[in-house]
Amino acid sequence: MPLQFSTSFPAVDHYMMNGFDTVRGMSSRFATTICACLLARQTELGIGGHFAEIGTFEGRFFIAMALALSGDEKALGIDTFDWPNATLLERFTAHCERFGVADAQLVVHKGRSEALSPGDVGSLLGGPVRMWHVDGEHSRTALQRDLDLARSTLHPDGLIVVDDMLHPEYPLLVVALHEWLERHRDMRVVCVIDREDIVAASKFVLCRTQSVCHYEEDLMSRFERFHYVMGSEWERYFCVVLTPEPRLAPVD
Ligand SMILES: C[S@@+](CC[C@H](N)C(=O)[O-])C[C@H]1O[C@@H](n2cnc3c(N)ncnc32)[C@H](O)[C@@H]1O
Repeated sequence: MPLQFSTSFPAVDHYMMNGFDTVRGMSSRFATTICACLLARQTELGIGGHFAEIGTFEGRFFIAMALALSGDEKALGIDTFDWPNATLLERFTAHCERFGVADAQLVVHKGRSEALSPGDVGSLLGGPVRMWHVDGEHSRTALQRDLDLARSTLHPDGLIVVDDMLHPEYPLLVVALHEWLERHRDMRVVCVIDREDIVAASKFVLCRTQSVCHYEEDLMSRFERFHYVMGSEWERYFCVVLTPEPRLAPVD
């Protein structure tokens, strides 16, 4: 599959071209590539730290992020690794090896995310997380609990990427996110990454309000051809929308 756009990481670009479709999963190619570019943006700005994901499955999204980390930064995969069967963990580690995720970088936690405290994450990684991907249990309670864990271990300028927003199968997830954001006014949505299709659904990218300036302009210029200029309205602010084929409905 040809590259939609380059991430500036040769290993990530190679994986997106030759590996992404061979690793089962539900993240879209579009959103995965944008998130790897967000890690590149953080590196440019000197925002260091680890990557962590709740709901790693076979590693489709995880591998791209792990390959975009630098130096001794680690990638933590949290999953029960028991669905749809007990061979999931084997498949995940084999994919990581095949695409060059270094053993020293890989941290795996087999278990439910709700059993992890912020201290556990700190012990597993040894420092703050610069990007979380929250894609585990899709109930309202579980999402809010996973967001709490992510927020309390997040680098001050870090990002939380939330999957399956506005997915027709999980219409109340966005309600849970809204309630959570109302309780945590220091956080907001900085970007909506639109869906590719019903499986490869939208992701919302969150950060602290003070950090929006690090990402907003950069997203609009770096992804100019995917930028939906109307933006996304959140009552107190607008955020960036990136969509694979931006267009406006004709009105006259
Ligand atoms: C939709 S899949 C994740 C897809 C993957 N992130 C990707 O990009 O391809 C959801 C995963 O969440 C895991 N999961 C569900 N509930 C969980 C929980 N409470 N704690 C940890 N993982 C959970 C499932 O085992 C499953 O592998």
